[in-house]
Amino acid sequence: MKIEERTFLFPNGEQAIIRSAGPEDALLVKTHREVTASETHFMAREPEDGPMNLQRITEILDAVTKNERDLMVTAFIGDEVVGDLGVTTVRPHVKYLHRGYLGMSIRQKYTGMGLGSFMMQIALEQARKNGFEQVELGVFSDNERARHLYTKNGFKEYGINPRAFKLKDGTYCDEIIMATIFC
Ligand SMILES: CC(C)(COP(=O)(O)OP(=O)(O)OC[C@H]1O[C@@H](n2cnc3c(N)ncnc32)[C@H](O)[C@@H]1OP(=O)(O)O)[C@@H](O)C(=O)NCCC(=O)NCCS
Repeated sequence: MKIEERTFLFPNGEQAIIRSAGPEDALLVKTHREVTASETHFMAREPEDGPMNLQRITEILDAVTKNERDLMVTAFIGDEVVGDLGVTTVRPHVKYLHRGYLGMSIRQKYTGMGLGSFMMQIALEQARKNGFEQVELGVFSDNERARHLYTKNGFKEYGINPRAFKLKDGTYCDEIIMATIFC
């Protein structure tokens, strides 16, 4: 499904259009995901994992658009995606349909100015309306900013996957499993 379009105003007066990326935006989303993967170690991918598959991203965005529950909250400035958030069904099986999984990233230049909070609030409100009963996510244990944002928006930490990630310097990082339960 597609969310209603909105505008986000940064403190410096710059504006982002918040809408749902569709298959026609696949190249912009691909570029955003490749750039954000290179900016911090907090995303699942590393640049060494190679370029993302444009056809696959197009298919996923098409599937999310046609799905009545799944949603994207995407921030655009001009011809660039600067924020990417998705809530998608954990598995398309009856026992899993109440669970949505959330992933998000903001381009470093646009972090720390409220955009993530704005996108999160839209996503959770829409996820609830769409019939999800809970939204889940995983976050690197050293990602203090993300953990703060998630806790502030009602997520609770309910588990830990020790040494889930091995970083390029050979150190390990735990994954914190979080969820917000609507009802
Ligand atoms: C994590 C992320 C989505 C947050 O979005 P954002 O737009 O930067 O967040 P906001 O500006 O809306 O809010 C950040 C909050 O974290 C707080 N914060 C900032 N740095 C912090 C830190 N080091 N420790 C704790 N809290 C911090 C801010 O004060 C703010 O809290 P407040 O609203 O209570 O004042 C974004 O920074 C991002 O995409 N980072 C890189 C990729 C990433 O980490 N993705 C998440 C993967 S799970």
